[in-house]
Amino acid sequence: MISGGPSSVYEAGSPTVDPALFSSGLAVLGICYGMHLMAQLSGGRVERGEQGEFGPALLEVDEPDVLFRDLESSQPIWMSHRDAVAVLPPGFRLLGHTETCPIAAMADERRRLYGVQFHPEVVHTRRGAEMLANFLFRICGCERDWDPRRRLGELEQQIRLAVGERNVLFFLSGGVDSTVAYTLTIRALGPERVHGVYVDTGLMREGETEFVAAVFGSIASGSFFIEPAAEEFLRALAGVRDPEHKRVIIGEKFVDIQERILERGHYLDGNWILGQGTIYPDTIESGGTAHADVIKTHHNRVAGIQRLIAARRIVEPLASFYKDEVRELGRELGLPETILSRHPFPGPALAIRCLCAEAAEPVRRVEDGWILPIRSVGVQGDSRSYRPVLALEQFPIEGEQLHDEATLLINRNAGINRVVSLVASHVPLPNVGSRPSEISPERLERLRRADAIVRRLAHESGFDRRIWQFPVVLIPVGDAARPDSVVLRPVDSVDGMTANAVLMERRLLDRMSAELLSLGGLCAVFYDLTHKPPATIEWE
Ligand code: XMP
Repeated sequence: MISGGPSSVYEAGSPTVDPALFSSGLAVLGICYGMHLMAQLSGGRVERGEQGEFGPALLEVDEPDVLFRDLESSQPIWMSHRDAVAVLPPGFRLLGHTETCPIAAMADERRRLYGVQFHPEVVHTRRGAEMLANFLFRICGCERDWDPRRRLGELEQQIRLAVGERNVLFFLSGGVDSTVAYTLTIRALGPERVHGVYVDTGLMREGETEFVAAVFGSIASGSFFIEPAAEEFLRALAGVRDPEHKRVIIGEKFVDIQERILERGHYLDGNWILGQGTIYPDTIESGGTAHADVIKTHHNRVAGIQRLIAARRIVEPLASFYKDEVRELGRELGLPETILSRHPFPGPALAIRCLCAEAAEPVRRVEDGWILPIRSVGVQGDSRSYRPVLALEQFPIEGEQLHDEATLLINRNAGINRVVSLVASHVPLPNVGSRPSEISPERLERLRRADAIVRRLAHESGFDRRIWQFPVVLIPVGDAARPDSVVLRPVDSVDGMTANAVLMERRLLDRMSAELLSLGGLCAVFYDLTHKPPATIEWE
């Protein structure tokens, strides 16, 4: 298959293939750019369209063909192109068109050459997977002989080959990927040859370190260690308020601690290599996460680790898998669902959900509500913003428009990037203000307890299964007796790059806020109504 891509076939230097491919007897499917290349190199013509075609379209199948076997003649498909095939190459016939694209599918069946302008590989092409299956099984003659039950054994064999006589060290985060990679490696090599280290930063959620210890303790007691570092992290973060500064400090601390572990355990001598839970999207350029996680970034900066990578002393058993496949493997390995269904959690942990303010400042009245005297991060245009938050006194009535409302408010109130609404509070909104604050054990504990309440209720009600992630944020906004408030930030997303704020049922929300307000030190509960963009998922 020749995939799509951003170039135009008539541009100098655009990617190409040896034209002999098309007379080699191999079946070829060209998708978008791949179709253009096939057409151009086979004697057809590609032209730049007057206007592009981006988004959903309807494919009308003109000629029944194996590629569309068992599918209706009218197919919802996904288009994303400006160039198009204008003249079919000799030997090809038209298979289908759309309203704006006269040649949307073509084939030279004799040579088994197929081209489609649309994208069968995206979910928006509703029956794209079946088209690809037709190509593979009916045109190429592939057989369905892959048995997922055999793959654990095969993976173990690959690990044994890659590792040879050496041993493997994993830095574990408690997340899905590193847990599955570690477990597989233990199965392949035995617990004596695989060490796992979890750094306890003191910034984790309630019960996390105990949970991780229990899970890893049962997978491989004796080869799993916890490195206590809570005090070090807290000391390094004392008085730090700026979000990026927090990230840098946390990253650097990780580097120090990892170096220390590598030295102390003699992991840098020739007998050890590093195991990592890298999955496929981490390894493709464009598929990397928007904010490569701090821990990962800094993993790569650790000098000792860089030496291991440079010497290829690294094993990444999951490097060819997607997240859903990693979960599937985890299930086959018998890992608990509590690990496999975890929401994503940021590397810098609760530190970036514990906001700090420099000074005491009152809220400020504006036409649409109240400006809270704290700032949060957002994405506007292509860059990050760091701006105050607008708070509405009324919780919106359920319905979709509310999110558009948040965007409208942000466009109308220059200088803000986020809108929250008050859910419940001990004192009226005009009476609250910011408090000078930093990351302290007391505030972290407050956030941890609030987060635990939200996590429990979201889980019991099943709400957590409807969303991608549910950050709970502690903001230094309150009164003298209760200096902090919490913000609920449930979002739905596919990959974290964009996200939608999600409303929860009023009954659940009322229960949650009642329990939260019974915690000491908490003044109010807010609900974040903003999509990403213009806000980000996390507040810092
Ligand atoms: P934002 O806040 O940028 O987050 O919309 C998008 C996704 O990335 C996660 N996130 C991080 N993960 N280190 C991480 O490992 C980080 O520094 C970091 N910042 C954000 C966030 O939880 C969300 O899933």
